[in-house]
Amino acid sequence: MRGSIRTRLLAAFLMVAVLSAAGLSYYFLTQIEAYGLRNLETRLYTEARVSAALLGAMYEKSSSAGGEIVIPAKEISSALADVSSETSSRLRVLDAKGVVLADSGGADSLGSSYAARPEIAKALTGAYGADTRRTELGRVALYVAAPIRTGGTIVGATYASSTTFSILTLLSDYRRQLGLAVLVFALATFVLAEMLGRWLTRPLRELEVGASALAADHSVRVTPEGPREVRALAEAFNRLADDIENSSIELHEEERRKSRFVSDVSHELRTPLTAIRGAAETLMADDVSIDDRARFLSTIVSESDRLARLASDLLTLQRIEGATGELPLSRVDLRQVAAIAVEALEPVASERGVTVEVHGEAPAVLGDRDRIQQVVANLVDNATRFTPKGGLVTVTLSRDDDHAVIEIADTGAGIPEGDLPRLFDRFYRSELSRARTSGGAGLGLAIVRAIVTGHGGTIEAANRVSGGAVLTVRLPALKDEAGGR
Ligand SMILES: Nc1ncnc2c1ncn2[C@@H]1O[C@H](COP(=O)(O)OP(=O)(O)OP(=O)(O)O)[C@@H](O)[C@H]1O
Ligand SMILES: [Mg+2]
Repeated sequence: MRGSIRTRLLAAFLMVAVLSAAGLSYYFLTQIEAYGLRNLETRLYTEARVSAALLGAMYEKSSSAGGEIVIPAKEISSALADVSSETSSRLRVLDAKGVVLADSGGADSLGSSYAARPEIAKALTGAYGADTRRTELGRVALYVAAPIRTGGTIVGATYASSTTFSILTLLSDYRRQLGLAVLVFALATFVLAEMLGRWLTRPLRELEVGASALAADHSVRVTPEGPREVRALAEAFNRLADDIENSSIELHEEERRKSRFVSDVSHELRTPLTAIRGAAETLMADDVSIDDRARFLSTIVSESDRLARLASDLLTLQRIEGATGELPLSRVDLRQVAAIAVEALEPVASERGVTVEVHGEAPAVLGDRDRIQQVVANLVDNATRFTPKGGLVTVTLSRDDDHAVIEIADTGAGIPEGDLPRLFDRFYRSELSRARTSGGAGLGLAIVRAIVTGHGGTIEAANRVSGGAVLTVRLPALKDEAGGR
């Protein structure tokens, strides 16, 4: 079924209105009709009984006088006509055989026998007889007969009848009025349904307007009002709109990050490529001294290394950030891992003239051994790089509640306060290290943070009061070792 809520409401209302009006009128009309018939029957019966009693007394008199029973038919007829003209009923007097002796309705029926009529037959046996029949004219007529008694014997019957013409007229009049009432009722229903429909559908239409506007503007919300169901719908709509807005913001943010990443990568690629190209171009000239040749070739080699490292770092970062719970987990002894990382960096550190020491103990953690080793290596690499000759880098292991803590502290210049918030971003390098030709792309700390958060840990960078930077990594300790000290 299609159509608007308003038309459906209207149809339902009209149906209910017409059905109930029709049903109620039918019920009351039949009640009224039955009541009218009962009243008429009582009246006719009273008339029949009263005249039967009077006639009975009359017969008694004439029989007790010793004479034959003489019915003064003419007088009785006219007397009856007088009475019945006021009561609109017809009264007849019958003898013991059911033959008409007197009739208020005229002389036509005098002498004819009504013995065959059931109500007469009943009256002549002494009972009360009544019947409802249709007359030849199609009207409903009520017939009532009462026995006339003299002493113990039944000497005849009085017979009262009336057509129910007046009741039917009344009822048909009433029916016409009823039709009018139903019409008025239907009209009122129409107006009411229309108003109710408007009132009900207004918030729905507002919701529709809101939904259409949402497509263009994700910040559109609707005010929950109207019936409860519509309010619930509006609230659901608003939640949906929130979701859409949030995910579109996220999408936008992601888009921005991606494009920045791409431009960062291409920027990082350009620098070594320019250097390689410059060196190669110079080498192509004829008059290159042996010394220069060696210098340019080594530039090409180191810049190619830098490109290769950049590629592998990006790949690492991509793998870590793309991985979802795929790390090969095992019990990792942090002291051991730190020692291996430091030992591997020993040559670089001594070349930079920096001493590296490992102190303390930390509870074991559950994690990827190689990745955690990479965390320590990246941090120690930074520390030795940003510390001047003769400096000291300290790797300190400890426990903090149920966390294993690794601190890498150096005696360098520290990290400029302004750089701290963005330090762990991809390609982020402070101005100072940017100026240096040596050094990486600024991916080291991004990789470190990705690994640490992948292990459910945290990393913080700070400056020591005594000078130099300190980077603190916290990893959740293995459960069974958390309490053992
Ligand atoms: N111990 C430190 N002392 C001072 N500055 C530091 C220290 N560690 C990191 N930084 C600063 O943070 C920046 C980012 O470090 P990150 O390790 O991400 O990059 P990078 O070392 O420059 O290059 P990469 O690690 O990719 O070779 C560095 O460029 C440097 O400016
Ligand atoms: Mg680094």
